[in-house]
Amino acid sequence: MSNSSAQWDIPSSWKPALQAAGAAGTILLLGAADSGKSTLAAVLANEARRATRTVAVVDADIGQSSVGPPACVGMALVPEDIRSLDDLHPDAIDFVGSCTPARHLLQCATSAHAMASTAARAGADTVIVDTTGLISGAFARALKGAKVRLLAPDLLIAVQDDDEVEHLISHYQTRARPTVLRLPMSRAVKARSRDERASRRQMKFAAYFAQAHTLEIPWDDAPVENSPWTSGDPAPGHVRAYAEECLAAEVLYAERRADGLFAIVAQQPDSTGLQTLREGFGSNTSVLEAGALDHLLVGILGENGETLALGILEHTDFRRRINTIFTPLSHPQTARGLRLGSILIARDGTQLGSNSPAAIG
Ligand SMILES: Nc1ncnc2c1ncn2[C@@H]1O[C@H](COP(=O)(O)OP(=O)(O)O)[C@@H](O)[C@H]1O
Ligand SMILES: [Mg+2]
Repeated sequence: MSNSSAQWDIPSSWKPALQAAGAAGTILLLGAADSGKSTLAAVLANEARRATRTVAVVDADIGQSSVGPPACVGMALVPEDIRSLDDLHPDAIDFVGSCTPARHLLQCATSAHAMASTAARAGADTVIVDTTGLISGAFARALKGAKVRLLAPDLLIAVQDDDEVEHLISHYQTRARPTVLRLPMSRAVKARSRDERASRRQMKFAAYFAQAHTLEIPWDDAPVENSPWTSGDPAPGHVRAYAEECLAAEVLYAERRADGLFAIVAQQPDSTGLQTLREGFGSNTSVLEAGALDHLLVGILGENGETLALGILEHTDFRRRINTIFTPLSHPQTARGLRLGSILIARDGTQLGSNSPAAIG
């Protein structure tokens, strides 16, 4: 054990897990919020490194992120002993879009998989995956089950106080993989209040955007991945005028695709009018209120769909087809796509609001 382990309480019943970490490929950690998962991840990372393995941490806790900003899954190789996951500098991030998993289950699972693959490509032979504290209910079962299938861990480590994680792990007992280890919570865990969690997120975003500047990114260079916006042809003037009349709202921009019309409007649209438009243009006709874009957190994607950086969408010029984005990304020409998130963030990292997943159209 290194000197850094002196600061931790390591219950003796954790010993098999520490030993197993020295030989495991992928290790998935499960446990409630404030169960000590991230601390355990740091302990395991040091153990695996000592077993002369190349170790990476995938931080899939999108709310209380240590590796990279919130709303992302972060990945870092562990070059030396660490005291905490917060010591790590991200080698890659993958934008999920939200700080809570419930309405972003697919995004959470795919981002965790993407970062574990990136870790393997970077040469990691042990990948330790830390997760959110979402452990109860059907959403937790769906998400953790998908992560087990996608990541195919050798080792599943559940940290629990009582039996709160059992419904997520008991069905693996008849399987060859993953090996499931149950660890008791350390008595040294210090819980964070709701306010502490929110302020930690704000500080992480603030630090991430501290060196940011505004970039003008044309839509044609960086089309939107997860909204009909930018996927169709600009609608002719008479179609826009008709949409404006139906919706009783100013149409700032409209485009047509085979399966519907997409419009960005300045005010709340009339719902009966939207129904009329669907009858005329296709059932997937949708409308986005421009307010849903103001200060929207976005992922700026590179040529392989990887997340180059996060950004805050601050202005959209619908005529010139240009988005103005506050971001630490230095070279706008590397941007090849945008992934819209669902939270609105100020430059100082304060969360201003959130959109329903349906809002982006
Ligand atoms: N094994 C431990 N020994 C000492 N302190 C711990 C230990 N586990 C957790 N803590 C304390 O509790 C806090 C919360 O633990 P953390 O690992 O962040 O929990 P989780 O990731 O499950 O939310 C840590 O910042 C640390 O101060
Ligand atoms: Mg944690």
